[in-house]
Amino acid sequence: MIEIHNLTKTFGSFKAVDGLNLKVAPGEIFGFLGPNGAGKTTTVKILSGIMRPTSGRVVVAGHDVELEPLAAKRELAYIPDEPFVYPKLTGWEFLRFIGDLYAVPRGEQARRIPELLETFELTEQAGELLESYSHGMKQKLLIASVLLRRPKVVLFDEPTVGLDPKSIRRFKLLLADIAREGAAVFMCTHILDMAEKLCHSVGIIYRGRLVARGTVAEVKKLTTAAGIRSLEDVFLELTE
Ligand SMILES: Nc1ncnc2c1ncn2[C@@H]1O[C@H](COP(=O)(O)OP(=O)(O)O)[C@@H](O)[C@H]1O
Ligand SMILES: [Mg+2]
Repeated sequence: MIEIHNLTKTFGSFKAVDGLNLKVAPGEIFGFLGPNGAGKTTTVKILSGIMRPTSGRVVVAGHDVELEPLAAKRELAYIPDEPFVYPKLTGWEFLRFIGDLYAVPRGEQARRIPELLETFELTEQAGELLESYSHGMKQKLLIASVLLRRPKVVLFDEPTVGLDPKSIRRFKLLLADIAREGAAVFMCTHILDMAEKLCHSVGIIYRGRLVARGTVAEVKKLTTAAGIRSLEDVFLELTE
């Protein structure tokens, strides 16, 4: 569902992403792990089509993102680390706008928007302008908009920053639901505990290169250190 082929992105002489190869299957929740500055955000920006690669290519739901940007964008949802919403729309209006933009039938919108607002405890604020929403509320609204669309590929950049524990719990359950329906989830995070509990597989990126890829259990076996190891131990060993 997601293919990254020999992806390189340079800024001046600096390689932010360096020959990255990676695939994520339908139904897979993939955790893209790495320390600050490793190249995670650059990679998802290229996957989403908002940044061009220096070389290499990315394919989303069978569509080359550079050659068929509209077809790719129809199938993908991207939630950036800084949630962007239109400040002069209300929560309701925003969800209807996204629903219309991605051709979710009006009847389905009428049924599911109230459910989603309820799920994320936004019902009371749904009539208020988004400029009054907190960071966490904006993020929840964006997640609700993704769930409304049911895209084939979901790209999340640090999705749980700003969410309270209850919302994180709901987010996890909903993520598992969309994966069961066949979507591929690509989630950048450095919250290793969350990756360990939620993701089917993980990849560790360090200085633009993939240094590990596999199930959490497989990746944990990658270090030579003795004793019981957590994903955190492996992460720290591979990125130092
Ligand atoms: N637009 C840009 N111009 C110059 N350097 C950038 C730009 N975007 C990212 N970088 C650099 O590329 C590296 C990777 O950044 P990023 O992909 O944001 O890392 P991560 O999301 O893993 O923390 C960092 O060193 C960052 O400073
Ligand atoms: Mg980042």
